[in-house]
Amino acid sequence: MLDFDVDLTPSQFRSAARDTSEILLRFFADIKSRRVLPSKTSKEIQKLISESLPVRPQDPHRILTEVERKIIPNSTLNGSPRFFAFVNGSGTMMSVLADGIAAALNQNAGAWNIGPAATELEELVIRWFSEMIGYDKRTGGLLTSGGTMANVTALATALHERAGYDIINEGLQSENRKGKFTLYMSDHEGHSSIVKAAQLLGLGRNSVRRVESNEDFTLNIQNLEELVKRDTNEGNIPFCVVGQVGSVNVGIVDPLREIADVCRRHNLWFHADGACGAFGRIIPRKASLFDGLELADSVTLDPHKWLYISYECGCVLVKDPAKLKASFTLVAPYLRGILPTETTGIDYFEYGPEGSRAFRALKVWMSLKQYGLVGYRKLFERNVALAEYLDQLVRDSTEFEPLCKPVLQMYCFRFVANSGKRIDEEKLDGLNQRIVDEVQRSGKAFLMTTSIRGRTAIRLSITNHRTTKKDIRLTFEALQRTGVKLANASP
Ligand SMILES: Cc1ncc(COP(=O)(O)O)c(C=O)c1O
Repeated sequence: MLDFDVDLTPSQFRSAARDTSEILLRFFADIKSRRVLPSKTSKEIQKLISESLPVRPQDPHRILTEVERKIIPNSTLNGSPRFFAFVNGSGTMMSVLADGIAAALNQNAGAWNIGPAATELEELVIRWFSEMIGYDKRTGGLLTSGGTMANVTALATALHERAGYDIINEGLQSENRKGKFTLYMSDHEGHSSIVKAAQLLGLGRNSVRRVESNEDFTLNIQNLEELVKRDTNEGNIPFCVVGQVGSVNVGIVDPLREIADVCRRHNLWFHADGACGAFGRIIPRKASLFDGLELADSVTLDPHKWLYISYECGCVLVKDPAKLKASFTLVAPYLRGILPTETTGIDYFEYGPEGSRAFRALKVWMSLKQYGLVGYRKLFERNVALAEYLDQLVRDSTEFEPLCKPVLQMYCFRFVANSGKRIDEEKLDGLNQRIVDEVQRSGKAFLMTTSIRGRTAIRLSITNHRTTKKDIRLTFEALQRTGVKLANASP
């Protein structure tokens, strides 16, 4: 006999749910004014949360009090309007509610039987995404943990399609393999997750060829074609080209139509990595940048970036769903359990690497319905306009210089002069890093550096539905003040 209730009683649940919503209301109430990055160190946080394995049951109210005291103040506010690091979405409030409901329903979106509405909703949002980016509405695809897994899924499909033998069963150890598989992306803006995907697929990191890019960071088509030809002549097996659709540093979009042409001529799979920027296709004045996206065989999207969905939610679209299924289907009797009937839908475990899967579609569906396409368009337009505004502040200043032109929501620049005097080149990298570190430590804004053509750059990803002009100005002024102070301190 158990001497405790397995579930909270209705009144306990109501009271804990009320506590939770009060905690969240307090959290959101001052998200705009609080430190973006907590001030405690890793050791200090460990000390605060460290405790022995709980043996006796604890009161839900006390557990929630601890959450508010220990966890919330030591979390980075990715949703703060002055969070500009990595490429992080800011988290819609609808995502919060959706994840609570999804946890209550506890659906496993791996198979239809254990997530009927979850599966159907996922198919629906995949169609909506395709429509948003001007892709084929009959496309297949699935939601993933993030852009990295979306890229892994796409490249596994590409490899299966182009290997020329039964790679699923024989793998890379097959005697039928005629050479080394190679894939291509631009040298500057190609994303590291593609390299990781190549490693995970057993191809090795060196299988990713870095194509020298153009002055504006886009992939150079002539260099691409030459590399593909050279590899083919050397007995390698080129199988895929990855185009950037909103790149990680400077937000460029590669020449997609021309990549598609090269892929057609050489029978290569065309994968478009749109994790950062593909949803930008809904901005009317930017739509032409995305010309040719519809020709890609597969596309990575990352709703937890520029759709502001809370973590986790990535997505891969594959134009021909049969190809996705052919690459991943593996059925065992215990997975099916019954014969599929007319009343059941698809089983997502047959379309990707994961078996059990979270119900991610709910937060996408609820957020898209809340804002509508019109709302998202305005939010994206504002993000792009803010990158342009920052570019203007940089160009109007005497201290900074731009390192790129704003294309979408990413922007890079650097501190170069103090009191009208240019600082020595060899000091600039260290100085820019220290400026960013100091602003980050102040808690006023969270931004990071990157390297642009070997030079340390201040980088902002304005992938945030709460950011306003004021936040950009405050952040810019903090960088300016800090830059002048540090430059004066080490003349
Ligand atoms: C272009 C691009 N592709 C893929 C990824 C990987 O996405 P995730 O971090 O969701 O795995 C990122 C992440 O920043 C990215 O910018």
